Amino acid sequence: MYYPEEVIEEVRLRNDIVEVVSGYVKLERKGRRYFGLCPFHGEKTPSFCVEPAKQFFYCFGCNKGGSVIQFIMSIENLDFPEALKHLAERAGITLPEPDDNAEREKSRIRKEILDINKEAARFFFSVLAGKNGLEAQGYLKKRGLTEKTIRRFGLGLAPAGWNELTETLLAKGVSDELLIASGLSVRAKSGELIDRFRGRIMFPIFDIRGNIVGFGGRVMDQSQPKYLNSPDTPVYNKSRELYGLNFARQSKIKKLLMVEGYMDVISLHQAGIDYAVASLGTALTQMQAWILKKYAEEVIIGYDSDSAGQAATMRGIDILERAGCNVRILLIPDGKDPDEYIRNNGPEKFKNLIDRAISLLDYKIRAENKMHNLDTVEDKLKLLNSIADILAAHDNSIERELYSKYYAEQYGISLESLANEVAKRRKKLESVRNGPAASRRPAGSDRESQPAVKIDSRYGELEYMLLVMLCNDNHLFGRISARYGLEDFNDQGAKKVAEKLYGRLEQNKDCVLAELLADLDSNTASFVVRIAETKCDLENNEKATDQILNKLELLKLEELQKQTIERIKNEKDGEIRQRLGLEFSKRAERIAELKRLA
Ligand code: GTP
Ligand code: MN
Repeated sequence: MYYPEEVIEEVRLRNDIVEVVSGYVKLERKGRRYFGLCPFHGEKTPSFCVEPAKQFFYCFGCNKGGSVIQFIMSIENLDFPEALKHLAERAGITLPEPDDNAEREKSRIRKEILDINKEAARFFFSVLAGKNGLEAQGYLKKRGLTEKTIRRFGLGLAPAGWNELTETLLAKGVSDELLIASGLSVRAKSGELIDRFRGRIMFPIFDIRGNIVGFGGRVMDQSQPKYLNSPDTPVYNKSRELYGLNFARQSKIKKLLMVEGYMDVISLHQAGIDYAVASLGTALTQMQAWILKKYAEEVIIGYDSDSAGQAATMRGIDILERAGCNVRILLIPDGKDPDEYIRNNGPEKFKNLIDRAISLLDYKIRAENKMHNLDTVEDKLKLLNSIADILAAHDNSIERELYSKYYAEQYGISLESLANEVAKRRKKLESVRNGPAASRRPAGSDRESQPAVKIDSRYGELEYMLLVMLCNDNHLFGRISARYGLEDFNDQGAKKVAEKLYGRLEQNKDCVLAELLADLDSNTASFVVRIAETKCDLENNEKATDQILNKLELLKLEELQKQTIERIKNEKDGEIRQRLGLEFSKRAERIAELKRLA
């Protein structure tokens, strides 16, 4: 059920958090905060506090935090709409009924689009089967697809002409508006409707109920763009569909193999690996990760072994971990994608690769390993220190121990010294996590049982700090947005929050943190409140903000430097190398300047 933002904000504002929490926890005022025994973990001395001015709660013991809405969700075990209803009733607000007529109209449009998508898929299929489809049939055959596979995945061909599908559908009485809403037709400059997909092999995209919600279309030659995809429509949202899930969810094997492309999914299914899925031309989203988690006990990432694929793997890992998925990573030799690998080596070899997929920890450490060349003692030291970092950040203690043993042996150091380093780092991590009031934390609290929030390990914290600073003082908007625009955000969660916050401030509306918290998931809300309570409680907002911006700029520049070094190494053209070298030294100057400021 959907409520407008104003309604959510009205409910929040009419429910003072101190009053609401007092219904559950005995609170005592200390300075600007109220303290009480945390209702979310057992404790004997109070580390749970409520900030009346900021309208959020936070527990220094278990790190849970959020607005009044998250408090009610957790304590009453309600979902978001239920909690909103509960608080609305408490404040005597009547929530608007969802508008029935508008809903009915929307669902009518959705149904009509699904119908014309089905028509279109039939049309594409018949074009492929017809006399104009011979070249395309040849192409698919050359790529190793059988007749049966083509039928199962409903592949087709969009004719090369300008408007054959459009004309066909218009003749059946479909309106212009609907053709455009479906994404199948676009309006040309001349004003006429033409086909979006022309001269392409068509891949229908099914939702889990088997409806056709959109299409991907591939050229048969080297022209660009290689793939054209349906835009988001009332029935299709790229960030939540997964190609192949309609089949994969019926697999006997309760795993999902996440690959990059349509062709990978199809060839894997044809090879009997019927639990492969792909995201749709975009990076894996959090929404997709939650969906994967719903259908599978384990997710295996099988992205291309090229550098883009490996970068996508790292991002994917973070997102999947955050959704609580068990993740393993498949290593495909020689820069191949799964489709090519299977075609060259056969299904059995690929199944062997799946069996040998490595753990997350192993993957991260191997990636680190690749960045060092271990010739010098110094380099080896750096590597071992990073390994200790990675191990320390890993929450499963059994795996921590096992891998410590393994890597100590692998790199010829004693288990004792590696274990010591890991333990030291964990201690430090814990004290950072628990904030300045950690000493108040009672022994035996259940902090360990709470999963740590997975955020971008390099940018996440700084980016959220920036947003918290901006909420503390909306006047900082000009200063911040000039140096850090929406497109600069790396942490996906922070980016979403930033979109909302920047949007409000651009319209000259003000925004406080509690308002932003209202519709965050409880882990992210807790994380943000922890930052607000332990990192951004500062005197000089402007100076602190500049420092955060400098750190972010530094991170970004150092990343660019690394990339530039790689490019220079691989560039054969002397002139370009020189230009890159110039870029490099300019950036180096700025880096030096930022480091002086730090
Ligand atoms: P083949 O080249 O036919 O083997 O396709 P593939 O599925 O292996 O494609 P690739 O690995 O190059 O890309 C992976 C996925 O990214 C594709 O399946 C598409 O969803 C998407 N993609 C690739 N190229 C483009 C493009 O030019 N535009 C868009 N929008 N998406 C693309
Ligand atoms: Mn491919």
